[in-house]
Amino acid sequence: MNVFATEAGTDLYEHATTLGKAHIASMFKQNPNRFEDFSYSLPGLMLDLSKQRITSETLNLLCALAREKQLDQWINDLLTGEKINESENRPALHTALRTPVDQTLEVDGVNIIDQVHENLARMERLVNQIHAGQWLGCTGDPIDTIVNIGVGGSDLGPFMACKALGEFTTTNSRDIELHFVSSMDGSHISSLLDKLDPTRTLFVISSKSFTTIDTLANAETAKEWLKRAYQYEGTDEALILARHFIGVSATPQRMIDWGIPESNHLYFWDWTGGRYSMWSTIGLPIALRIGMSGFREMLAGAHVMDSHFRDTPFEHNLPVLLALTGIWNINFLGITAHAILPYDGRLSHLPSYLEQLEMESNGKNTTRSHELVGYNTCPVLWGEIGTNAQHAFYQLLHQGTIPVMCDFITCAVRYEGPNNIDLKRQHQLNLSNCLAQSQILALGDTVIEGADKAPAYKRYRGNQPCTTLLLDKLTPHTFGMLIALYEHKVFVQSVIWNINPFDQWGVELGKTIATGLLPALTGEADNPSLDSSTRGLIHHINTKR
Ligand code: F6P
Repeated sequence: MNVFATEAGTDLYEHATTLGKAHIASMFKQNPNRFEDFSYSLPGLMLDLSKQRITSETLNLLCALAREKQLDQWINDLLTGEKINESENRPALHTALRTPVDQTLEVDGVNIIDQVHENLARMERLVNQIHAGQWLGCTGDPIDTIVNIGVGGSDLGPFMACKALGEFTTTNSRDIELHFVSSMDGSHISSLLDKLDPTRTLFVISSKSFTTIDTLANAETAKEWLKRAYQYEGTDEALILARHFIGVSATPQRMIDWGIPESNHLYFWDWTGGRYSMWSTIGLPIALRIGMSGFREMLAGAHVMDSHFRDTPFEHNLPVLLALTGIWNINFLGITAHAILPYDGRLSHLPSYLEQLEMESNGKNTTRSHELVGYNTCPVLWGEIGTNAQHAFYQLLHQGTIPVMCDFITCAVRYEGPNNIDLKRQHQLNLSNCLAQSQILALGDTVIEGADKAPAYKRYRGNQPCTTLLLDKLTPHTFGMLIALYEHKVFVQSVIWNINPFDQWGVELGKTIATGLLPALTGEADNPSLDSSTRGLIHHINTKR
């Protein structure tokens, strides 16, 4: 099955036979206006594609491909709640989570925008209560420490956003300590619990399904820790659960079964994919950090991107262009590695967030009609704060043997910091590094005179396609725009590849097999049918305990 065996696809293959050999440096020589021609702005955010290996013709052909795939119809279906997640028979409506209250969207006869805002209001009451010191632990002490227990989409988004937007911490949330716990082995939670006061700690158990073993194992440990702390006072378990646990889930009954009373529930819906759930009540830690008004600003920023995505012709549509240049790189230039390089310490968790967003969404090898794909889909993504990565893996980007496309993400206006220390010079240094690295990666050592006379080991071949995403300033609003931009990019690519980006069947088997292996590890049962590697490792582990 080849989605590119079409008129536009054939034209693109043909185009790639010539452009595939071109060097980005020579493209800049030929066209000194590349920046004007290939950069696109929205208030607060600029996308510069001029260091991609593209021409106007490339973009025209890619837009023709998008039209051929009826992208406009797919965008409409996404935004209006068609059941485009076919394997799970439901819509994917994360955009509804940031739709203003005066709009309506009916799913199965219910206006879900009302539901969304009711739940935001419920979350707001809870946030205000905690900020006002009115949420009390079992001993009557106010809660001042929150531990979010979740994994994947129930962890990465809030974790990333709290780190990115710490500067916007509100006065009444300044005294709240926030922690994130995710690792299944218990190493995160156990080292954290040692430092916490159980009488002032509230656990937020975040899990869409409320069946994820990683999360439930950490939640059990937290419950046991509290029970032990309160055992001398003879505190009832139900009271501990009521005062020290909040549940955030799409499955209320499972929260009840686990012991969290209904009054402590926050809800979202099965039409919100886990990796698209930061905008829902899963975002509670974000609201606790930056306040509800900050959280609503983040939603508003994402909504701006949604409207732009819906209303803008492909030729000027930022998510569409970002996606299509990715398609060009992956499917026509053969580039299957993608580095995410934020030049801003506040965006340190963006790479791991995008790893899940992109690879769990589009890491698929079957089409919507269940045929095997005959082309590459999602590339391998990884990343790191750009300046740190310069001292780690940039050697490979500059002189390794594999082509890598790179996203540089940075902010024009600097981080102010909480203590009046002047960071102007550091900000300028950071920006000069960001610009220098994307320049060398794209243009190679043509940027310095006489480089061609240097020995081979000192040469920089360049021609790694680079995108720059420049925020005016990192705020909840621009942050919301940025993340929504990537979400829509992922969707557009899925449309071109004809795959469903909203399921994740590839993660299920691991869960089943792990459950099956547990008895062999605990010594309850042997499993002679196991392969010799797994059996040998289990034996070795068991001899060490
Ligand atoms: O392992 C896959 C996954 O289902 C992700 O898609 C999801 O974000 C994560 O696990 C956590 O799931 P839940 O929120 O249901 O605990």
